[in-house]
Amino acid sequence: MERKEFLRSLGAGAAFALLFPCAQGCSNDEEDGGNRVVPSGVDFTLDLTSSEATPLSGNGGFIEVTSNVSMDGLTDIVVARNLQGELVAASLICSHEGYAEVEFVDQGEGIFFCEVHGSQFAQDGTPLNQVDSRPARALKVFNVELNGDILRIFE
Ligand code: FES
Repeated sequence: MERKEFLRSLGAGAAFALLFPCAQGCSNDEEDGGNRVVPSGVDFTLDLTSSEATPLSGNGGFIEVTSNVSMDGLTDIVVARNLQGELVAASLICSHEGYAEVEFVDQGEGIFFCEVHGSQFAQDGTPLNQVDSRPARALKVFNVELNGDILRIFE
């Protein structure tokens, strides 16, 4: 699927957002600094047959679906296929200091992890550790609904 077709497949909730779905590891957002806005009003679909979604074909794979900086908070989402083969989605923006560095890692039963300061979160967003003196806050997670090859991610 061409990028244009992939973008067309996005739902109305994010129709005006310019998205840059990235395979794992393409984020460079650490250089952009923290305090990014946690996504809200999220409701879009992802075509799992698109090339951008290829990392989701295997357990433990994940992709980042990001807006550009000027559209901060619209669609900064990490979508993963967990180790049990289920699709899960969470904020790419870490609840610790707001860096867009959350990824899915195959630790334990599979967790969300932010490499900036090492925050770890269960798949339901529950914090698993505390990286400084402040109480750890939950990572925002999103609902997913699979219809054929189309995955809806929403609140
Ligand atoms: S910003 Fe993610 S652990 Fe600090």
